[in-house]
Amino acid sequence: MSESYQLRCIGCAQVVEPRAMPGNFRCEQCGELFEVVYPTWTGPKQARPNPSALRWLWKERRMSLETADRSGVWRFREMLPILASEKSIVSIAEGNTPLYDLPRAGERLGVARLHAKHQGMNPTGSFKDTGMTTAISVARENGAAWVACASTGNTSASMAAYAARSGMRSLVLLPDGEIAWGKLAQAMDYGALTLQLATDFDGCVRVLMEVVRRAPVYLLNSVNPYRLEGQKTAAFEIAEQMDWQVPDHLIVPGGNLANSSALGKGFLEMKQLGLVAKAPRISVIQAEGANALVRSVNEFGGKKLEPVEAKTRATAIRIGNPASWKKAVRVIEATGGWVEQVSEAEIALAKAEIGAEGIGCEPASAVTLGGLKKLIAQGKVASEDSVVLLLTGHTLKDPDYTIQYHRGEWPKEADAALGSAIAATRRNAIRIEASAENVLRELEKFAG
Ligand SMILES: Cc1ncc(COP(=O)(O)O)c(C=O)c1O
Ligand SMILES: [Zn+2]
Repeated sequence: MSESYQLRCIGCAQVVEPRAMPGNFRCEQCGELFEVVYPTWTGPKQARPNPSALRWLWKERRMSLETADRSGVWRFREMLPILASEKSIVSIAEGNTPLYDLPRAGERLGVARLHAKHQGMNPTGSFKDTGMTTAISVARENGAAWVACASTGNTSASMAAYAARSGMRSLVLLPDGEIAWGKLAQAMDYGALTLQLATDFDGCVRVLMEVVRRAPVYLLNSVNPYRLEGQKTAAFEIAEQMDWQVPDHLIVPGGNLANSSALGKGFLEMKQLGLVAKAPRISVIQAEGANALVRSVNEFGGKKLEPVEAKTRATAIRIGNPASWKKAVRVIEATGGWVEQVSEAEIALAKAEIGAEGIGCEPASAVTLGGLKKLIAQGKVASEDSVVLLLTGHTLKDPDYTIQYHRGEWPKEADAALGSAIAATRRNAIRIEASAENVLRELEKFAG
C-alpha cells in the first residue's frame, strides 16, 4: 500500500500534507473539516481502478487467511489507500456485516424490499469499528502513543478496543450518567483511561479540544477524516450484497453526522469509478430532541446550523452541535435524500419492531424505521422502492432501555397515536413460582 491521497478542506479547498495536519483536524484558514480525496480517480481512465477487476478481487479476498483480506474494511483497500504500509493495519475482523430482510415490517409498511444493514454486528457492537480500524492504523503510522475521544459511548468502546490491540493507551471523555452501561463497561474492559465529565457530549468535545492542544494525544473523534474512510466501506458492502444494484433509499441515524457523510462518500465514489450506476437517496433521521440538522435544513436551507441542547433517551445520538453537518448536507443534496425527526415513542416502538424481527438494535438505530414510516406517509418512499435501514448498534448495548420498555416504564408520556401499537409489542418478563403447572398455565393463555 502507498499513500496516494490528499487532505482537502471542505470550506476553502486548501490541500494540506498529511504530516502537517493540525491536531484538531480543523483548517487553520477557515476552521472547517478536511476530507480525504484521491486525485488519480479524476485523472485519465487508465490510472483509475478497474470496476470488474475490483469486484472480483474483493470477493476473492473473503476466502483468504490474511488479516487485511479478512477485514470487511481493508478487503476494499483499493478504495482507501491511506496507509504507507499494510503492516500498520490494526484489525479485529471488522465489517463483513449482514444485510437482513425485514419481512414483517416491510409487509406492515407496504414496502416489499426492506432490508437492514446491521453495523451493530461489528466486533465491539457498533459501526464505529469500521472507522476505528482505519484511523487507529493511521495513528500507529504516525507513531502515536496516546489516542483520545469524546463519546456518547460507542466511539469510546471501539477506540479502547483498537488501542488495546495495537498497544496504544487511550483516553475517553464521557458525559457522566448519560451513556448506556454496556458501552461504559466496554471502555473499562479494554483498559481505557475512562473519565466521566459532569457535562454533556458537546461539553466533552470542548474539553477534549483543549486537551489535544496541550498534550500529545491523537484525536479519534469523527472530525478525523480517516474515520470516514473506514465507515464508507459499509456502502461497498451494501452494493456487493445487492449484486451491485444499489437500493433506492438508504436511511441513516444522525448524531454527529459523520456516518451519513461517510456512506454518501462511499456511494458517490463507487459511482465515480463506475462500480455502480447510481447512489441511493440518503436520508438522515434524528431524534426530535436532538434535531440540529433537521432544523438547519428546514429553517436555513442547510446553510447554517444552530446548536440545540440535546435531549433523547437514544443516548448515542444525544448530540446538539454535530461536527460533520456540512458534509451531511452535501450528501443529502447530492443524493436527493431528506431529513426527518422522530419522537421518543416512535423510536421506542420502532426498536421493539426491529427486535421482533429477531434482529434487534440499540435505540439510536431504530430512528431509521421510525423515519421510514414518515417518508412513506409523505409519499417520498414508494411501495416498489428498495430500502436499506442502516442499523448502527447492537441491541445489547443498552439493555436497560429494552427492559424499561417491556416493563411499561418507557416511553414515559402516554402517546395516544402509538399507545396500542406499543402495548401490542410489549413482552414483560413474568415472575412465577417454579412449577410446571404455573408454566403450563401461562402457556395456556396463548393457546389457540
Ligand atoms: C449507535 C449509534 N447510532 C448512530 C450514531 C450517530 O452517528 P454519527 O455521529 O456519525 O451521526 C452513533 C454515534 O455515536 C451511534 O453510536
Ligand atoms: Zn479551509
